[in-house]
Amino acid sequence: MAKGVKGTRDFYPEEMRLRNWLFDNFTYASLLHGFEEYDAPVLENEDLYTRKQGEDIVKQLYNFKDKGDRKVSLRPEMTPSLARMVMSRAGVLPMPIKWFSIPQCWRYERMQKGRGREHFQWNVDIWGTSEISADAELFSVITTFLEGVGLTEEDVVIRVSSRKVLEEVLGSLGIEGDAFAQTCIIVDKMDKLSPEAINEQLTELGHNSEVISKIQSTLGLKHINSLKKVLKPDSEALKELTTLFEAIESYGISDWVEFDGSIVRGLAYYTGSVFEVNDRKGKFRAICGGGRYDKLLSTLGGKDLPATGFGFGDMVIMELLKDKNLLPQLLSGVEDVVIALDPELKNVAVKAASVLRDSDRLVDLVLENKKMKWAFKHAERVGANRIIIVAPEEWKRQKIKVKDLQILNQIKKNLPFPVSIHDYENTKEE
Ligand code: HAM
Repeated sequence: MAKGVKGTRDFYPEEMRLRNWLFDNFTYASLLHGFEEYDAPVLENEDLYTRKQGEDIVKQLYNFKDKGDRKVSLRPEMTPSLARMVMSRAGVLPMPIKWFSIPQCWRYERMQKGRGREHFQWNVDIWGTSEISADAELFSVITTFLEGVGLTEEDVVIRVSSRKVLEEVLGSLGIEGDAFAQTCIIVDKMDKLSPEAINEQLTELGHNSEVISKIQSTLGLKHINSLKKVLKPDSEALKELTTLFEAIESYGISDWVEFDGSIVRGLAYYTGSVFEVNDRKGKFRAICGGGRYDKLLSTLGGKDLPATGFGFGDMVIMELLKDKNLLPQLLSGVEDVVIALDPELKNVAVKAASVLRDSDRLVDLVLENKKMKWAFKHAERVGANRIIIVAPEEWKRQKIKVKDLQILNQIKKNLPFPVSIHDYENTKEE
């Protein structure tokens, strides 16, 4: 039997309803904050992604040569495509840009809970402003979404730090540029690899034990006040983080956000704030990740523009919502089922369905020859509240029956003895 590609998902209608519901919530939170939607192709030139710092995302590319011998890749993330779009209209696009998108992304990952080889990733980005308040606006978008789907600050936390913290600590030891980005990528794996493996990789990068212990103590910081002990009084990182937390307070979302020195993120391009969203119990993988990336454009041959944003996957959030029993029961949306009880009357049913559709009712026309009993079952299954029946006797009198299932159910519920719904007819003739 034919199978789908490993790590990819099919969306049957009931799953598609949930996916649409999720995407509607993503979209609503974005629109509520003034973001506009954009899109880009799933296939890009491979060199858009081949950065040199040894990130997992580059090793996981779904890349191949096309028939014209061009090296192309399915996108593993949206940020480079967005950067390409912004760059090709540089100087023309009015700044700042506030854009969102829900692209499907492809990564040849090791399969595990919450990680597949394709996922949809809600991306929300702000370009053209270096104000740290833009990062707080992103947090507001995230918490608006989370609240919208029924989660609270007791379920989920946004953990935030800044690359500048580690940069300032390591800068005093002469670790900068590429070496710094590579260090961040290794440090990001701390929760996945053993301390020995991390030490080995850091040593390979040329870091001595003094550097390694400085890194470890910085990552262990859990409160912004403790930063004062490791950073200089005029520290840029400290100033920015203080401003950020003040803004977070103004948004009224302080209970959702915590400083955490261990957040560095595994992508090379981040330059400032970095954050991740996790379930408080730590049962699941990261729900969302993002940060500021002010220097991405120059790596792609353009002129730098400040930018900040996040990617929020569809897989972990669905698992968390399921775990918390917060997934809604969604019906098909069909309002009316139209059936002809005689094959001769099928075209009358077609006309009846058209009239209803013209008046914006969502109509499922029964295309095969079916009996009333089937129509009732079907209506119940799809969640329709009316059945429109074209039956020979009535049609002779130029009438069509409309059964209101809601009323029928009401009657059924209020009767003192059990009855089958089919026994009752609240026939309204149209
Ligand atoms: P990322 O941390 O690689 O960041 O991915 C962001 C989110 O996408 C993750 O937190 C997770 O929810 C989801 N995700 C990533 N990979 C997978 C996977 N294999 N299966 C399921 N879900 C996954 C980025 O991609 C950045 N480009 C985000 C960003 C946008 N930064 C600034 N703007």
